[in-house]
Amino acid sequence: MNTVIIDQQEALPSRSEGEPSTKTQPIVRYKGITKSFGELQVLKGIDLEIQTGEKVAVIGPSGSGKTTMGRMLMTLEEPTEGTIEVDGELLWHMQNKEKLVRADEKHLHRMRCNVGMVFQHFNLFPHMNVLRNVAEAPRKVLGLSKEEAEERAVSMLGKVGLADKLKMYPANLSGGQKQRVAIARALVMRPKVMVFDEVTSALDPELVGEVLAVIREIAEEGEMAMLLITHEMDFAKEIADRVIFSADGRIVEQGTPEEIFDHPKSERLRSFLQRFRSGGN
Ligand SMILES: Nc1ncnc2c1ncn2[C@@H]1O[C@H](COP(=O)(O)OP(=O)(O)OP(=O)(O)O)[C@@H](O)[C@H]1O
Ligand SMILES: [Mg+2]
Repeated sequence: MNTVIIDQQEALPSRSEGEPSTKTQPIVRYKGITKSFGELQVLKGIDLEIQTGEKVAVIGPSGSGKTTMGRMLMTLEEPTEGTIEVDGELLWHMQNKEKLVRADEKHLHRMRCNVGMVFQHFNLFPHMNVLRNVAEAPRKVLGLSKEEAEERAVSMLGKVGLADKLKMYPANLSGGQKQRVAIARALVMRPKVMVFDEVTSALDPELVGEVLAVIREIAEEGEMAMLLITHEMDFAKEIADRVIFSADGRIVEQGTPEEIFDHPKSERLRSFLQRFRSGGN
C-alpha cells in the first residue's frame, strides 16, 4: 500500500484527541474525497456530513459512484484523495509523529467496527447456520463469549423476525429472509452508522416489503445514522431526513425529500427523476 501524506491542517479532525464526541459533531464526514480506478475517476470531490441519527438517502444514475462511497466507509475501498472521519476520528489515516499517513490494519480494524454495511447480494456464510452467521463477528471481532454472542444474535434475529430460523442454512432461506439475516449480522455489532446498498434490488418484488419494514423499524429507533443507497424512491421519501443526488462522481443536489422529489432544481436531477418515473434508470 502507498503511504499517503496529506496536509495536516486540512485533514485533522476538528476536535482534539480524547475530547468526548458531542451531538453536534457529525458522525461521518467525507472531505474532498476522490476515487480513481486506473484512468477512470469515479468520485470527483465528495464533501458530505452525516449527523448522529440522521438518515441520508443517496440516489443517482448507475455508475455515479454510490456504492464506492459506501464501500469507502466500510473500509473496503481506499480513497485516492481526501479524508473520511467517523465520530471525529480519521478512518483511512493516522498520525505518525508530525505526519498523517495511511492507517495501518489495526486502526482500520478498530474503525471498521463503527460501521455496518448490507449489500445487494447478501454475502452470508453458506456453511454456517443463521445463528452462527450472526454470532460469528461478535465472537471473533468483539471477543464476546459464545453465550454472550449467541444471546445478542438471537435477540437481533428476533428483531428482524427470524427467531424461528436459527438453525437453518442460507441455502434454505428466501431472498427476503437472507437479507434480514444480513441486516441482523450488521446490527449485532452495534455500529454507529449503517450503509444499506440497494438491499432490495436482488429480491423478488413480493419480498421487498418485509426487508423495507425491518429497515423502517431500525430507522424509527432513531439513534443510528444511515446511508441508504437506493432506487426505492418512495421509501427514500418516507424515511430519509435528507436526500443526496449524485451524478458523474459529484453531489449535484441535496435537500429534504420534498425538495429533491417535488422541487428538483437542477436539470440533471429533473431528467433523472423523469427517466426514473417512466421506468428507466
Ligand atoms: N473495483 C473496481 N475496479 C474498477 N472499476 C470499478 C471498481 N468498482 C467500481 N468501479 C467503476 O466505478 C464506477 C462507479 O461504480 P459504483 O459501483 O460506485 O456505481 P454506482 O453508483 O453504485 O452504480 P449502480 O447504481 O449501478 O450500483 C463504475 O463505472 C464502475 O464500473
Ligand atoms: Mg451501486
